Amino acid sequence: MPLPKAELHLHIEGTLEPELAFELAARNGVTLPYADTDTLREAYRFEDLQSFLNLYYELMAVLRTERDFEDLANAYLARAAAQGVRHAEIFFDPQAHLARGVSMGTVVEGLWRALGRSAENHGISTRLIMCFLRDESAESALTTLDAAKPYLDRITGVGLDSAEVGHPPVKFRAVYEAAAALGLRRVAHAGEEGPPEYITEALDVLGVERVDHGLRCLEDPALVERLVRERIPLTLCPLSNVRLRTVDTLADHPLPAMLDAGLLCTVNSDDPAYFGGYAGDNFAAVHRTLGLTEERLRELARNSFLASFLEDDEERRARYLAEVEAYQFGDAVS
Ligand code: HPA
Ligand code: ZN
Repeated sequence: MPLPKAELHLHIEGTLEPELAFELAARNGVTLPYADTDTLREAYRFEDLQSFLNLYYELMAVLRTERDFEDLANAYLARAAAQGVRHAEIFFDPQAHLARGVSMGTVVEGLWRALGRSAENHGISTRLIMCFLRDESAESALTTLDAAKPYLDRITGVGLDSAEVGHPPVKFRAVYEAAAALGLRRVAHAGEEGPPEYITEALDVLGVERVDHGLRCLEDPALVERLVRERIPLTLCPLSNVRLRTVDTLADHPLPAMLDAGLLCTVNSDDPAYFGGYAGDNFAAVHRTLGLTEERLRELARNSFLASFLEDDEERRARYLAEVEAYQFGDAVS
């Protein structure tokens, strides 16, 4: 049995496995510029975030109907459940779909067909976080928030993703203020490729409660001290960092030093279909390669539930935390 964990940094579009991409392409009459799944997998060699994003957006062309989004989410939930995920806070990128003529309703209702039954079908509680694309305009983000208003009972929070450098958090001040006024929780990607100043700005200007990635905080000791003091969770994604060359190799990943510094770190998969592993695979990799002890892994699992947006269901959070404390490690760790 794998270690129980929450996944807090997961782009649902990044769970599109090549097999499902071809199945949906055939169902929807979409032609992909790849001969087969092997050829497509060969394109999974990335230089940086942008080279990944190009493929990530290209493959979204196969997602057209509610059923497509339902199938995508169910495929993720089944894989996540097998790797010990008990709670998932799932990002989606509506602007990437609206731009292709796929409506907000199709995306949210489709995802909800899977998420609404996830607790019964997969044993995973879920939340949905709508991300704004930071390389699109601030006006487009506001229009997107407006389009989401009929679906706010299904959306827990907002996030910020896509190409980071040159698109500082301050660009999205107005839409985050509007989201806060609607009672939405706030997170943002910051300090993945962008500088530590973007992390500070996400906290001070956008009011985020959690930072996605946040790796580059290490360049600013005063910021690290603040993140520790304020107990700001960081949603780290070790295999993603290797594939997008944020770190040279997994052995160089600063996760152990970050835990030693007292940072509230969590381990997540980001875009598992593209980066070589789901949540449990990331746990197994940091155990194997970084030599994290079982108690460190238990700390990461505990952190994931502490950092999750379960304030509306503290009973459930307490149950999950008890599962983490009672967990007995076996031979294989994941
Ligand atoms: N970083 C930024 N934007 C993204 C990512 C990521 O890792 N995955 C999907 N959109
Ligand atoms: Zn991400």
